[in-house]
Amino acid sequence: MKFEPRTITLKDGRSCILRPTHPDDAAEMITYLKMISEETRFVLRNPDEVTYTLEQEREILGNLLEDQGSVMMLAVVDGQVAGNCSINGMGNKRRILHRCSMAIALKKEFWNLGIGTAMITYLTELAKQIGFEQMELDVVADNERGRKLYEKCGFVETGRRMRAMKYDDGTYADEIVMIKLL
Ligand SMILES: CC(C)(COP(=O)(O)OP(=O)(O)OC[C@H]1O[C@@H](n2cnc3c(N)ncnc32)[C@H](O)[C@@H]1OP(=O)(O)O)[C@@H](O)C(=O)NCCC(=O)NCCS
Repeated sequence: MKFEPRTITLKDGRSCILRPTHPDDAAEMITYLKMISEETRFVLRNPDEVTYTLEQEREILGNLLEDQGSVMMLAVVDGQVAGNCSINGMGNKRRILHRCSMAIALKKEFWNLGIGTAMITYLTELAKQIGFEQMELDVVADNERGRKLYEKCGFVETGRRMRAMKYDDGTYADEIVMIKLL
């Protein structure tokens, strides 16, 4: 959905704009998605699984912008995509209409500057505006920075999904389920 851009000041004094993604961001988004999947094992995709064509990505971003039940937010620093985050409804059945899932990632050079905190704060406002009653996420168990961020933003741990991720080297990682009531 569309929402008002918001400017925040980072811990290093730079400005960061939080704004909706636009189809014109497609090329940079593809590069960005490849980069974060190379930089961290805490996201779902392996680098070779970022396979969107420019046209597919344009269409996805266009649909997200028009979808009143989901948010795709970009963090932009010095004109460059630093990270993104999103909320999506869990499904269209009435019994789960109150729930949304949240995802977030940043390029490594932008970690620890306060962008994650600011994006979740803004996403929380937008999720309430849409009418969601709770935000849910899964975080890899040894993702200390992620877990700290979520706890700070009001998420509570509600469970553990054993062996949720399997890496190419054959190792597994558990995920922690976290929920924030809105
Ligand atoms: C996880 C992530 C989104 C956090 O965003 P961020 O902008 O770095 O987060 P913030 O700077 O707002 O806050 C991070 C907090 O964690 C703390 N922190 C940093 N490293 C830490 C560590 N190793 N252990 C515990 N806490 C840590 C910071 O001090 C900060 O807390 P504070 O604001 O109280 O000082 C980002 O680091 C990232 O994209 N990581 C890789 C992808 C990922 O893990 N995505 C989440 C998948 S569920």
